[in-house]
Amino acid sequence: MQRLIIEGGRRLEGEIAVHGAKNAVLPILAATLLGGSSTLSNCPALSDVDAAGRILQTLGCTLKRQADRISVDAHSVEFREIPETLMREMRSSILFLGPILARCGRARLSFPGGCELGARPIDLHIEGLRRLGAVISEEHGYLNCSVRGRLHGAEITLPFPSVGATENILLAAVTAQGRTVLHNAAREPEICDLADFLNTCGGRVSVEGDRISVEGVESLHSGDYRVIPDRIEAATYLCASAATGGEVLLTGVRPGHLAAVLPALETAGCRINTGEDWIRLAAPHRLQAVPSVKTMPYPGFPTDAQAPLMAALCTAEGTSLFVETIFEARYKHVGELRRMGARIEVEGRVALVRGVESLSGANLCCTDLRGGAALVIAALSAEGRSTLTGLRHLDRGYQDLEGTLRRLGAKISRERE
Ligand code: EPZ
Repeated sequence: MQRLIIEGGRRLEGEIAVHGAKNAVLPILAATLLGGSSTLSNCPALSDVDAAGRILQTLGCTLKRQADRISVDAHSVEFREIPETLMREMRSSILFLGPILARCGRARLSFPGGCELGARPIDLHIEGLRRLGAVISEEHGYLNCSVRGRLHGAEITLPFPSVGATENILLAAVTAQGRTVLHNAAREPEICDLADFLNTCGGRVSVEGDRISVEGVESLHSGDYRVIPDRIEAATYLCASAATGGEVLLTGVRPGHLAAVLPALETAGCRINTGEDWIRLAAPHRLQAVPSVKTMPYPGFPTDAQAPLMAALCTAEGTSLFVETIFEARYKHVGELRRMGARIEVEGRVALVRGVESLSGANLCCTDLRGGAALVIAALSAEGRSTLTGLRHLDRGYQDLEGTLRRLGAKISRERE
């Protein structure tokens, strides 16, 4: 079992470059199934990205990785069942359903994994694909999907702007026959990135706010594309610096994608300056509480940044209030933060964080990806030593977490037993 050992209480200071966005590269990798050969740059080295690569290989693609570039040759794609082990490895495996159906005319896959945030249904994905002409049945935990001929365009309104359902529908619609209009679509930057990649490969997708129109094309061609920076990785390092009274310069980032996060950090007392592709944050010795943080679909405050910000505010002066509206079980880190001395009460979707003077190091276990990041942040700001297990969650979403934090002056190491 691997463990992170963190000696807390050190101010983080320095400059780091943000990696490419996990949640952008995953749907884009699924999209490469529709084209010839694609080369993606700014791809983070993460276990979820490796899992997506293995799914592509199962379907007959050839992959090459060189530094941050992944080349996918999808000329010889053929219908294959995606093994349950791969589907369970990450929830985003469901994003392959739309493109496999579009490319092969049928698909068979088990229900995806990644359910640590509570019930995560895929009804909106399935309903959307049915509207595009897919016939989908479920048996023994498997989805059997087929299309007679080609998928066709449709007018679809999502009851909730689900990120994954928007991506799956877009991926299926881009080579469908005719026009698709998706209303109440998700507006996350990762959706625009997927649309930009599809258009680079000859797709005809236009995103206007929460309305996405797609003119179906026969097929996509090869394309080279650079993935956008990871706004959640950026938010995590900003929160880590803020929690330790530090000062950090993030480069290779898009400040506009963090428009809901930066004001919260300013309310907490941080000084923030931004340029076209950089953010500088200088934190006070002690943060101030943030009266209300409510997670919402983009452009609202991202649910993925809720846990990291909560960790930083555990030692703020005053009481902060969080309302989690996206996922039903996204406070799993709270129990672990309490073990460090945090005073947090949870009632349904609301968490009340009463700032304490300091946290103390403890033995902790990561419960999910962003919850794990929150524990790292808390451990960095705490007095004494913390050990963290459950690192597979962190490795899904943070490339070289320890190396990056060490460059900022953290005392952190990984023990491999
Ligand atoms: C994406 O998950 C991200 N994952 C998540 O990132 C992120 O937290 C989430 O969007 C919200 O921003 C990827 O992009 C790979 P949703 P996704 O569909 O697509 C309900 C991280 O830490 N819903 O917008 O699964 C669902 O249960 C993560 O990087 C349905 O009811 O999110 C949830 O309550 C984890 N039916 C809400 O919608 C459906 O068919 C939002 O889910 C689909 C979703």
